[in-house]
Amino acid sequence: MTNNLRYFVGNWKMFGDFNSFKIIKRIQQFYVKFRTNGTNNKIILCVPNTLISFYKKKLNSKIILLGAQNCSQYKNYGPFTGSVSASMLKKAGAKFIILGHSENRMEGETPQLIKKKIKSALNENLNIIFCVGETINEKKQGKTFSVLYNQIKNSIEKKFNLNKIIIAYEPVWSIGTGKTPKFGELLRVIWYIKTYFKKQFRTKKYPKVLYGGSVNDKNIKEFSKQTHFSRIQEIDGFLIGGASQSSKKFIDIIRNYYK
Ligand code: PGA
Repeated sequence: MTNNLRYFVGNWKMFGDFNSFKIIKRIQQFYVKFRTNGTNNKIILCVPNTLISFYKKKLNSKIILLGAQNCSQYKNYGPFTGSVSASMLKKAGAKFIILGHSENRMEGETPQLIKKKIKSALNENLNIIFCVGETINEKKQGKTFSVLYNQIKNSIEKKFNLNKIIIAYEPVWSIGTGKTPKFGELLRVIWYIKTYFKKQFRTKKYPKVLYGGSVNDKNIKEFSKQTHFSRIQEIDGFLIGGASQSSKKFIDIIRNYYK
C-alpha cells in the first residue's frame, strides 16, 4: 500500500440534482472512518454548477472538496449569456476545476481557448485538472506522444502557477467505453507527460498526473499495482466519470485501491 498522496476525483458530468447530495453524504461517511487508517488522499467531486453552492453549505467538513467542470474564458462578469466565470465558481465554493475535457474539446474547444480558461481559473486561485488524451485514430497512427505534447504546449505557459495544475491523462477511446490502456502503455505515457512537463516548463518537481477513462472498482486493482514503479511513472490518482455517480462504486474504488 502506498502512502504517497492520491487523488480520487469524481467527474459527474451532466448529472445530479439536490437529492443527489445523498451520494456525497455516503462518500463522506465512509471517508471519515477510512482516512483514519493513515492513507494519504484527497477526494474531490466535480459537480454541475447548479449544485456547488448547495452542496458546499451541506458539507459540514472540508474532507471532501468540490470542483467545477468548465468555465468561461472571461473574467468576473460580462455580456456572455449562459456563461459562468471562474470567479463565480470560486464564490459558489469550487476549489478545483476540470478544464480541457475531451467532451468539451469535441464541442469545439481549442488549445488556445483552453489556455485562456486555465489563465482565468488560475487568477481565481482554483486548482486545475487539465485533461489531455489521444483519440483512437491518433493512437493507431502512433501519434499519442505528439498529441499530448501539443495539447500541453499549446495550453500551458511557463509563467503560470504550475503548482496549481494537475494533468489528467484521459485517452478519448477509454472514456465511458470500458476500455483501458495496457499496463506498459500507460506507464510510458505517464512517464512521458511527467518528464516532458518538467523539462518544458523547467519545474523543480514532476507534475501530478491522474489517469481517467473507465476506472471502476475492478480495474482499480490493476492501476494500484502501478505504484510500485519509480516516481516518474507513478499515477497520482484517478479522474472517475460514470462510477462517481454512485456512492457504492466510488467508495469501492477507493477501498479496492488500498486493498
Ligand atoms: P468515465 O469518464 O470514467 O465514465 O470513463 C471519465 C471522464 O470523462 O472523466
